[in-house]
Amino acid sequence: MKIAVAGKGGVGKTTVSGVLARSMARQGSKVLAIDADPAMNLWLSLGLPKDALTNIIPLSENDDLIEERTGVRPGSIGGVFSLTPKVNDLAERYGIRGPEGVMLLVLGTVKSAGGGCMCPANALLKALLRHLLLDRRDVVVLDMEAGLEHLGRGVVKGVDTLLAVVEPSYRAIETAARVKKLAQDLGVKRIYAVGNRI
Ligand SMILES: Nc1ncnc2c1ncn2[C@@H]1O[C@H](COP(=O)(O)OP(=O)(O)OP(=O)(O)O)[C@@H](O)[C@H]1O
Ligand SMILES: [Mg+2]
Repeated sequence: MKIAVAGKGGVGKTTVSGVLARSMARQGSKVLAIDADPAMNLWLSLGLPKDALTNIIPLSENDDLIEERTGVRPGSIGGVFSLTPKVNDLAERYGIRGPEGVMLLVLGTVKSAGGGCMCPANALLKALLRHLLLDRRDVVVLDMEAGLEHLGRGVVKGVDTLLAVVEPSYRAIETAARVKKLAQDLGVKRIYAVGNRI
């Protein structure tokens, strides 16, 4: 299962992602939790200790890795980089294991993982997300940035389930309705609303 968790800012996406990842792992699934929000706070919901933070380098800021895999160092001028870098080992190499055995992967800024800006960091993240969402057999839980940006950019194309978190407010429900429409347009098969703070 590939599950994306979306919704308006502050409705509880990260909380739901963390709880879901941990409970599925507890029931025996191999779970990869992906923090795709530049605010990077999924570690807390997963129950990782604070010192785990010091070990987290978001992949988008790992210049050595980006250069190794794409052939071009971020920030350098010119150069032709690979749009299909090797990514199949990255979750195991850069993931951090937390309680219940959940593996956490922190992407950092994913400004245009579905298209748009052409730079080596985005090429790597885009290839990685595609690999993780399409090729892996385990459970993947994707904690997304608030709003609809990711959906618009097609990151969600590879997921098979989308959870739109809602709280009892008009704006949260309205955002969830728009998330649903966009996810439907992208071909996501299962779309659910999760009521929080009710
Ligand atoms: N059911 C709940 N009961 C009490 N507190 C909650 C509940 N759900 C979420 N919270 C708290 O509300 C705050 C926002 O939750 P969370 O970070 O999960 O939202 P989010 O949608 O991921 O936010 P963002 O859009 O900033 O990423 C957090 O402090 C969280 O602990
Ligand atoms: Mg969040």
